[in-house]
Amino acid sequence: MTLIKVNLCSYLKNTVVNVIERGVMTQELWTEVDRYITDLLVPADPVLDATLAASHAAGLPPHHVSPNQGKLLMLLALINRARTILEIGTLGGYSTIWLARALPVEGKLITLESNPKYAEVARNNIVRAGLAHLVEVRVGRAIDTLPKLATEGYNQFDLIFIDADKPSNPEYLAWALKLSGRGSLIIADNVVRNGSVIEPNSEDPSVQGVRQFNKMLAVEPRVSATAIQTVGNKGYDGFAIAVVTPED
Ligand code: DHB
Ligand code: MG
Repeated sequence: MTLIKVNLCSYLKNTVVNVIERGVMTQELWTEVDRYITDLLVPADPVLDATLAASHAAGLPPHHVSPNQGKLLMLLALINRARTILEIGTLGGYSTIWLARALPVEGKLITLESNPKYAEVARNNIVRAGLAHLVEVRVGRAIDTLPKLATEGYNQFDLIFIDADKPSNPEYLAWALKLSGRGSLIIADNVVRNGSVIEPNSEDPSVQGVRQFNKMLAVEPRVSATAIQTVGNKGYDGFAIAVVTPED
C-alpha cells in the first residue's frame, strides 16, 4: 500500500513537472485533481452513491455527470432560483437528483427518458432520494414528449439541462428556446467531445450535432452563451451555458 502511494506520489510529481515544464496534461492528473476537489467540496453522499450503484447494477452506461459537475448543476439552479426544471436525458437520475435538490418545496422537475428500463431505474433512485414529489420522469423519445409539454402549457422552465443523444441537440435547443423565457438557463453537457468538436468534417453524428448546436447558440439573438472545457474523471469534454436574454 505504502509502495503504491509512494509510486503514485512520484508519478504525480513527475506529471506536475510535465504540466509546468512541457504543458503536458494527463487523464491521471485530471482524475487526481477531481478527487481532491470532490473530497474537499462534494462529500460522499449515501443517496447519490446508491444511485450510481443501482445504475451500474442495472447495466446503465456510465454517462452520468461527475459529482462536482452535478454540484455545479445544483448551484446553477440555486443561483437562478429555479422553480421549474426540464431535463432532456434522465439516464439513472443522477443529475436529476442534483438538480431537484435545488428546488423549493413547490418546485417541479420534469425529466425525459427514451429508454423505459433507464426510466425505471431513475424512478427508484428518485424515490430513494425522497424527491418523488418534485420529479416526474416521462418515458418516450424527447422529440415526441417535448411537443406535449408545450400543449400542456409549459412555456417557461427556469433551467433546462440537455444531456441526451447528441445528434438531436439542435432539435433539443429549438425546443428549449420554445419552453423557456427571459432569465432561463439552458445548459448542455458534452459539447467538446474530447476536442473533436473542432473537426468540421467529422463523420461522427454526435460531433455534428454538437457543432450545429454550438452554432445555433452563436447566432441565436434570444440567448447570451458560452462554453467551457471540462477535464476530470470523466475525461475531456465541456458544458455549454446560455441565458435567455430580454427581447428588444
Ligand atoms: C455519452 C453521453 C453523455 O451524456 C456523456 O456525458 C458521456 C458520453 C455517450 O453517449 O457516449
Ligand atoms: Mg452527458
